[in-house]
Amino acid sequence: MINYKNNRLFVESVSIQDIAKTQPTPFYVYSHSKISNTYNELKKTLDSEILFAVKANSNQAIIKLMAKLGAGADVVSIGELERAILAGVSPQKIIFEGVGKTKKDIEYAINQKIRLINVESVDELQRINEIALQKDESVNVGIRLNPNIDAQTLDKISTGKKTDKFGIDTDKLNNIFEILKVSKKINLIGLSCHIGSQIFNLDVFSDIFQKMKDNAQIFIDKGYNIKHLDLGGGLGVNYKTNEKKLNLELIKKEMDKCFNGTTYNLSFEPGRYLVANAGILVTSVITIKNNGGINFLITDAGMHSFIRPALYNAQHEIEAVEISNEQLINYTIAGPICESTDIFRKNISMPKQKVNNLIVIKDTGAYGKVMASNYNSRGTPIEILVKEDNFFVIYKPLSTKELINQDMIPDWLN
Ligand code: LLP
Repeated sequence: MINYKNNRLFVESVSIQDIAKTQPTPFYVYSHSKISNTYNELKKTLDSEILFAVKANSNQAIIKLMAKLGAGADVVSIGELERAILAGVSPQKIIFEGVGKTKKDIEYAINQKIRLINVESVDELQRINEIALQKDESVNVGIRLNPNIDAQTLDKISTGKKTDKFGIDTDKLNNIFEILKVSKKINLIGLSCHIGSQIFNLDVFSDIFQKMKDNAQIFIDKGYNIKHLDLGGGLGVNYKTNEKKLNLELIKKEMDKCFNGTTYNLSFEPGRYLVANAGILVTSVITIKNNGGINFLITDAGMHSFIRPALYNAQHEIEAVEISNEQLINYTIAGPICESTDIFRKNISMPKQKVNNLIVIKDTGAYGKVMASNYNSRGTPIEILVKEDNFFVIYKPLSTKELINQDMIPDWLN
């Protein structure tokens, strides 16, 4: 779906060079059919509810596509909740997570009548209880557990160890039970966990399943009706060609081993898995220069357009949009931002490039545009959705003027 045909890069049947004729770089391009196929395969293989983690890509068109495919949503802020509802996700298929929910967040979530709010601390459960009493309304909650499992992934995207800030330490369950015992307005209907991103190890998945089942039993034994077990996101995605793919069938086998005979509504909340490989970032070469023997290829996308390499040392494949027979050269691909960390890849081999050539940074459909900024007073990229032989602009950034107009000068400075 994102392939070279006659040495030119296409997303479905649209040539990237054709898009660039009318749209300024840098721009993200997503493939409608790659997203749909990935969702359908995941849904079918895991045979569970899929709650799209909107944080990975919160464009209205993408969430709407997910909703049409049947996905619910996992949101972590009022903004994401509004986005999910506006895009047509049924509130009963939305769960609200996040380690720092304010009173305003909680009230908003209650008013929207979503499925449940996932509680992440004893203190938060108390706050929800107070708000529910004030409003004189029953509130459905889940408990996000911290299962103390090492996701065996990058430290910066690991969230499920005892020392991480996320979820409720299972040693603290007694405090939870005490509050639940006296609270008249809280309905505990689910448990959830999310231990990190980019999980590939099957043992880690089976550990999650077993811990969730064991903990659910503890709650059931205390008399709670746990209907929903949310098994988290974090399904690993390939960022390099020829990497071993996550084996969904084996994950499903582990699930069956653990949950056969139970009646929980099982769900996952993946973000990256559904969109990462369905998106690319297209950028133009602005300058080519040699400093200290290094060939720098400076692009108009930078860490302000796509921050994963600068922030996590993430390695994304980078290629020319048109493959030529020019001699191969080792380039370091860097953005235009005034920071040394604004580098996408060091020392990669590519056919010799010229200024204005188009370059593609691959697998950027997740945590791409959503993490872009206006640093150096630059704009964020446009977003484009391709469906068969058509493309649609689905996000138009603010103009420089509009951005500047967000600032306000107090009278005394004028
Ligand atoms: N559920 C919760 C509670 C989460 O915190 C996250 C991600 C997800 C689900 C979805 O995880 P996924 O399936 O996408 O791995 N910006 C980082 C990733 C941060 C993930 C934060 N939480 C990156 O670019 O790698």
